[in-house]
Amino acid sequence: MHIGILTGGGDCPGLNAVIRAVTLALQRECGARVTGIERGFRGLLERRSRGLGPAEVIGIVAQGGTILGTDNSCNPFDVGGGRDASAQALAYVRELALDALVAIGGDGTMTIAHRFEALGLPVVGVPKTIDNDLAHTERTFGFDSAVAVVSEALDRLSTTARSHGRVMIAETMGRYAGWIALEGGMAGGADAILIPELPFDLDAVAALCREREADGGATLICIAEGAHERGAGLSVRATLASSPDPLRLGGVSLALQHQLQPRLASEVRSIVLGHTQRGGSPTAYDRVLATRFGYHAAQLVKAGQFGRMVALQGDRCTSVALDEVAGRNRVVPPEHALLQAARGIGVHLDD
Ligand code: F6P
Repeated sequence: MHIGILTGGGDCPGLNAVIRAVTLALQRECGARVTGIERGFRGLLERRSRGLGPAEVIGIVAQGGTILGTDNSCNPFDVGGGRDASAQALAYVRELALDALVAIGGDGTMTIAHRFEALGLPVVGVPKTIDNDLAHTERTFGFDSAVAVVSEALDRLSTTARSHGRVMIAETMGRYAGWIALEGGMAGGADAILIPELPFDLDAVAALCREREADGGATLICIAEGAHERGAGLSVRATLASSPDPLRLGGVSLALQHQLQPRLASEVRSIVLGHTQRGGSPTAYDRVLATRFGYHAAQLVKAGQFGRMVALQGDRCTSVALDEVAGRNRVVPPEHALLQAARGIGVHLDD
């Protein structure tokens, strides 16, 4: 058996732990040969690959990023101007004599993987994204590491906020789902958490800051990049036409700073945490989850169960059909227990 493996979309802590687990489990349990495709699906078009064995993967469990490289702007089904280059990618798969492909990635990667599966390439998907917003899995690896970064950043910002009596706004990643801002904000003791699912009211946020000013307190606001004022649009920074996931957001925290400043006596500052949330070494939780996912992906390959994505449900590794995942997002539901807890302790959400 000869299995290809690739990482697609943005990098994420835990990718290397999956590569390690898939490679070691497939070799040990079925004597399979494993080949890493470099730079995601782009590697299939540019014919870039290399063999993976114990020597290449032992010692990478704690490494951030991906040893294979990744790409979040290449869709073989539309490489520009609507040109479909999937046949070229499949020709390279045939040349390598791959029996199946393990694709580690987010929504865009799963959608492409699903299309290749429909063309006859057996695929197993492994869910990755710091945003934790893939359908049918309760967790994706990388999320815990991102939350830890946000939590630490808020701890650091709060010392300046309290010392100077300032309003400090931290912007997290999370385009359509506010999981990072919600969990990171709760862990970091934010006074207000603003997420895409709950459009905010500017007057209400300003009133909260004034209330805290009157009490002699500072205000710590954690806002997701996809959060927006009621009736307003997203803060789009760029649109990458060729990407399977074209919108790039950013800047909502600065916009909020400018809107709040004239309404307050205290100074308002903002910071975009950006890629610091995706960088660095995975937390112990993410290393373990990524290893479980990689091992489970190897079991699916071994059992010939293709067209499926590994998922975590009720803390059990299972799998779901790729067509149930592709093109869907998992957002924070309005009745989520953490939202209730936040409201219960007086964290400002949407009103
Ligand atoms: O999907 C993960 C994610 O981290 C989003 O939260 C963020 O908007 C996006 O990737 C950023 O991607 P890029 O690295 O292309 O700017």
